[in-house]
Formats: sequence, C-alpha cells, structure tokens
Amino acid sequence: MTADSDGLMKKLVSLCKRRGYVFPSGEIYGGLQSSWDYGPLGVELKRNIESKWWEYMVSTRSNVTGMDTAIITHPRVWEASGHLEHFHDPLVDCLKCKSRFRQDHVRGNVCPDCGGELTEPRDFGLMFKTSVGAVEDDSSIVYLRPETCQSIFVNFRNVVTATRMKLPFGIAQTGKAFRNEITARNFVFRSREFEQMEMEFFCRPGEADRWFDYWTEERLRWYAELGIREENLRIRRHEESELAHYAKACVDIEYTFPFTGDGWGELEGIANRTDYDLRAHMNASGQDLSFHDQASNEKIVPWVVETSGGIGRTFLAVLLDAYREETVEGRERVVLGLHRDLAPIKVAVLPLSRKLSEQAEEVFRMVSPHFPATFDVTGSIGKRYRRMDEAGTPFCVTLDFDSLEDGAVTIRERDSLDQVRVPISTLVEKLTKIMERGWPEG
Ligand code: GAP
Repeated sequence: MTADSDGLMKKLVSLCKRRGYVFPSGEIYGGLQSSWDYGPLGVELKRNIESKWWEYMVSTRSNVTGMDTAIITHPRVWEASGHLEHFHDPLVDCLKCKSRFRQDHVRGNVCPDCGGELTEPRDFGLMFKTSVGAVEDDSSIVYLRPETCQSIFVNFRNVVTATRMKLPFGIAQTGKAFRNEITARNFVFRSREFEQMEMEFFCRPGEADRWFDYWTEERLRWYAELGIREENLRIRRHEESELAHYAKACVDIEYTFPFTGDGWGELEGIANRTDYDLRAHMNASGQDLSFHDQASNEKIVPWVVETSGGIGRTFLAVLLDAYREETVEGRERVVLGLHRDLAPIKVAVLPLSRKLSEQAEEVFRMVSPHFPATFDVTGSIGKRYRRMDEAGTPFCVTLDFDSLEDGAVTIRERDSLDQVRVPISTLVEKLTKIMERGWPEG
C-alpha cells in the first residue's frame, strides 16, 4: 500500500465512524479484530445496495426467483460440496514479527511486513464449526455456511416443483456467510462474517458458455449503474491454475481498491460451475435432482452459471469511488458523491435559523413520507451543509426568513452546489422528478 492509498483508507475509515457508516465491533472492549458493525447510515447504504441487486437480478426478471435459506447448515451439505475436503488455505507465519499470511498472498518466503523468514505452510480450515443441542459430540456438529449458494443447489427440486420454472432459470439469494479467514484485513473487504449476493442460473449444458458471457456483461453493467466509475472496474479471466475445484471457467469483476498489490481487487466472481454441485448432492443424498423437460421428455442435469458478489465489498467500492476532497469558495470540504439511489439520506431539511424550526419541521413532515430525510438545526448552516456533504446527502432543503413571505424554499444540490427556489406546495413533486431524472432535469 502506498502512503497515498494508506491515507485514503484511513480517511475513509475515520469518516465511516464519524458519520455512522461503520464502527469497529465490540469497540468498548478493545474491538474484535476484523469484525464490523454497520451504523445508522451504513445499514441504509447496505440495504440500498442489496435492494438494487434484488431489483436488478430478481424482481425485474421473469426467469429468476429468490429464496432465503438457513445459516446453520446440515454437515453433509459441506461434505458433498467438497468444502470439508477443499476449503482450507495454506498459511505461513513470520518467525521474526509473528505476522500470519496466506501463502498465496506473499512472494517468496520473506515476510512482506518486516522481511523476516517465514515458516513452512500449514493448512487452516475456513469453516466455522458449532454444535446444535444440549450434548456436544460428533453427531451434533454443524457448520455456519461459508457461501449461500449450496442451499440453493440442495433446494433445487423444491423450487422447481413449487414454481414450475422452465430451463433456463435462476435462483438467487442474499445473506450472511462466514469464513475463518486467516488474514482478515482491509476494513470490510475481507472479514470473517460478511454478506453475499448470489444467483445460480440453471441451463442446458450446451448453453452454459453463452450464459456465462451474458451474466458477465450484466453484472459489470450493474456496478456501473451504481455510479462506480467505469475506469475503476475491470473484468479478469482466471488462469486454468486458479480455477476453484468446481469451476470450468471463471471471471472476476475487479475494482481499483487502494490496498491490493497490483491495484485491483475482486468484487464479484462469475463462474461456470458445470453440473458439479447438483451431481455432488445427487451422489451424496441418493436423491434425483435432475430436471424433467416435458417438451422433449428428457432428463437433464442442468449446468450452472453463478454470479457471486459481496455486499461489504460493493459497499467499500461505492464509498471509495464517491469520496473526494475539494476546495469550494475558499473552504475545504469532504464529499461522498453517492448516487442518489444509494444515498442513505436523500433530503436534509435545514432551517437557516433556530427561529424557523417550527416551519422547517412542517416541511420535514411533508417530505419524510416520500424520501429518507433528516432534520438538522444544530450549528451554522455552513457546518450543516458540510455534515450532509460528508454523509453523502444529495439534496438539502433550506428554509429562510424569506420563506415566511414567499412560501418557497431553496434546494441545494451536493455536487454542483447549484440552488433552485421552489414553492413549498410543489416541493415533493419537484424532488420526486429530481430523484427520477437526476439534477437539474427535474
Ligand atoms: N459461491 C462462490 C463463492 O462464494 P467466492 O469468490 O469465494 O465465491 C464470492 O466469494 C464473493 O463473496 C467475493 O467476490 C466477495 O465479494 C465476497 N467475499 C468472499 N469472502 C469474503 C470475505 N472474507 N469478506 C468479505 N467478502 C467476501
């Protein structure tokens, strides 16, 4: 990490705490390493990302349906999926400074932190194990899911029977996943508890390559639609040697995270998983998970194209991409230029003076049923604008003494700093247009 990129991460982490995006978990007890709690603004941004994903991947497509499966999963799921056998990382320790690294994250056998000598690699299991019921023995062992997709495969027949979906179709879900990462670091980029957004697209074996290309393009487009600058996104195809045990082909959508060695880090993986998972669960359970195509009267074990992204990584990319420092009118300001669809607070209602609080609260009560809004009367108007700029709030509505005469308020746009005066009676209508079409078309 360069001094600049280190500085950017420090500033962002500090802003996240200051404005209520993300807090270190268990902070009053010294913090739990690599665990993070999403605060009042963080939870809104996270939900906005997730609902944009659901809308793009599920609600607007007739051939993709959703589910929400259990986190504590039957141990045989992970035996059949190959996780118990394959899901571990080789780790090395520095003999001098005692830091621990994944072997594939270091070059040579010299510590990247202090230059010390590293140990031989040892395997480290990534699954979180726990037990259910009153007695802890081998028969009570269960696992917290390390990915959300396996329960989709296990439920394949249930979903087909319930929905009568025809090939090709997708099953999607979002939810928590858990991995006992050896080197959890870089804020929410790599944590032990995180949220995934996964979609398994079942198709005829001969069509998997085409769907793989289709979903790669669709997923890239989704990140661009969140407002992430296209030059900060790229697609990287995996080398044969990098492919996971289940994959025939894989690409990563990457973002220019400031802390990664070559400047790019994974946001999402798109994989052609073939029929590996359905067959593995058929073999292990003895159940038939094939698809009966009524038109051709064929039995098909579909191939799967998977799109698998992380909410935390998207959250971090969105914030990094939106963060900027600038000087306007001789004053420095920090701005989160978040896309208005993602911004946790969309409208801040600000009376110019405390004396106008009552009238401004009335405006807040008009606006808040329509948009996530806040009301702030504390501090000078300049300070309040800056607080909202840092929080990423796209529009401030200011009520001043003239408002008492002309019944109008001023809308200030965060990025251009342009202002328009509108009658209070048409404020909601005006804001609705701006939210739909962007500034200044509304
Ligand atoms: N079902 C396939 C699968 O889980 P993965 O590449 O291991 O593939 C998919 O994970 C996505 O989940 C990653 O691209 C990343 O966005 C997110 N992810 C994985 N491990 C993570 C971690 N420790 N912390 C935060 N996000 C993580």
